[in-house]
Amino acid sequence: MSFEAFGQPLLTFPDAEKSPLSIRAKALVFVDPRSRQLRQELELLAPRSISVLIRGETGSGKELLARHIHRASDRGGLFVSVNCGAISPTYADAELFGYAAGSYSGSASSRAGWFGSANGGTLYLDEIGDLPLPIQIKLLAALENHEVTRVGAHQPSPVDVRLVAATSIDLAQAVAAGKFNERLYHYLSEGQLELPALRERVGDILSLSEYFLGIYSQRLDLPVPLISEAAQHLLEQHSWPGNTRELENVIHFALLVSTGDEILPEHLNLPEAPPSLVQIEQQAAQLIKNGTAAERSALKKLLESLTQTL
Ligand SMILES: Nc1ncnc2c1ncn2[C@@H]1O[C@H](COP(=O)(O)OP(=O)(O)OP(=O)(O)O)[C@@H](O)[C@H]1O
Ligand SMILES: [Mg+2]
Repeated sequence: MSFEAFGQPLLTFPDAEKSPLSIRAKALVFVDPRSRQLRQELELLAPRSISVLIRGETGSGKELLARHIHRASDRGGLFVSVNCGAISPTYADAELFGYAAGSYSGSASSRAGWFGSANGGTLYLDEIGDLPLPIQIKLLAALENHEVTRVGAHQPSPVDVRLVAATSIDLAQAVAAGKFNERLYHYLSEGQLELPALRERVGDILSLSEYFLGIYSQRLDLPVPLISEAAQHLLEQHSWPGNTRELENVIHFALLVSTGDEILPEHLNLPEAPPSLVQIEQQAAQLIKNGTAAERSALKKLLESLTQTL
C-alpha cells in the first residue's frame, strides 16, 4: 500500500506478515553443528524481551532468523520488516514513527509508521548501519522510553516494540569510526547472534539443496529429482558469496534446466570444482604412462611439493 503524501509515492506500509510476498520459506534448515548451536542460542534469546542484533553476510538468512525469533516469542503483534537502506533520509522520521493528520499537504489522515505497525510485535530493522545518525538517536529514545512522537503530533504515544536488527558490517567498527551511535549499539546488542556464512557450515548445504528442490518441485508441479554425487561435490565445494539466497537460486535454476530425474553438475551453473589431488595424480600418471620410472618418480615428488606449497 503506498501513500501519496508528498506528491509522489514515498511512504510504503505493507501489512507485514499479512502480505503474501513476505511469506517466504518458513522452515529453518539447520543441520550443521554450528547452525544447531545457533538454533539453541535463538531458542534461549527468543522468549526474553531483549533486543537482538544479528550479524551475517548478505543472503545468509538473517531475516528468516528474525522471523523465527518473533514466532518463538509470545508476542502477539506483527513482525514488521524494514530495510534501513531503503528509507528515504528526508522522510525517515515519518516512515519510522508515523505522522499526525495534516502534517503534510495531502495527508488527511494520520499514519502509524513502522514503529506503530509493530506495536505489540517485532520490528526488524535490516542493515541498521544504514540508518542516518539523527534517526539513530530518535530510535534509541523511542526504545528506551517506549513511546514515539509522530511527526506533527504534540503528544508521544506509548509503543511496545521488540527490536531485532541485522547488519552485514561490523557495527563496533562503525562506532569507532563515529558512524554509528555507541549507546544505540549497546542497546541493540543486548542479545547477539552471529550467523556464519554458508561456506562455514558446509553441513547445511545438501539439506538446504534438498529442501529448496522440494519447495520448487512442488511449486512447479514437477517430480523431485535426486542430486548426483558429482553435483553434490560441486555444491559443497562452492564458496557461496551470496550464501543461502545464491544456493536457492542455483537450485531453482537447476530444476528448470534438468531434464531427467537427476541434477547433474552441468545443471548447476557454477564454476567447476578444482580437481582433488588424487584426480591430478591419476591424470598426470595417464599423461606420462609411457615415461620411465625416473620420470614417474620425479612427477610424484613434484606433486608432493605442490601439495605442501598449497
Ligand atoms: N536456514 C535456512 N533454511 C531455509 N531457508 C533459508 C535458510 N536461510 C536462508 N533461507 C532462505 O534464503 C533466502 C535468503 O534469506 P534471508 O532473506 O533471510 O537472508 P538475509 O540475510 O536477510 O539477506 P539480505 O542480506 O539480502 O537481507 C530466503 O528465501 C530464506 O527463506
Ligand atoms: Mg534481509
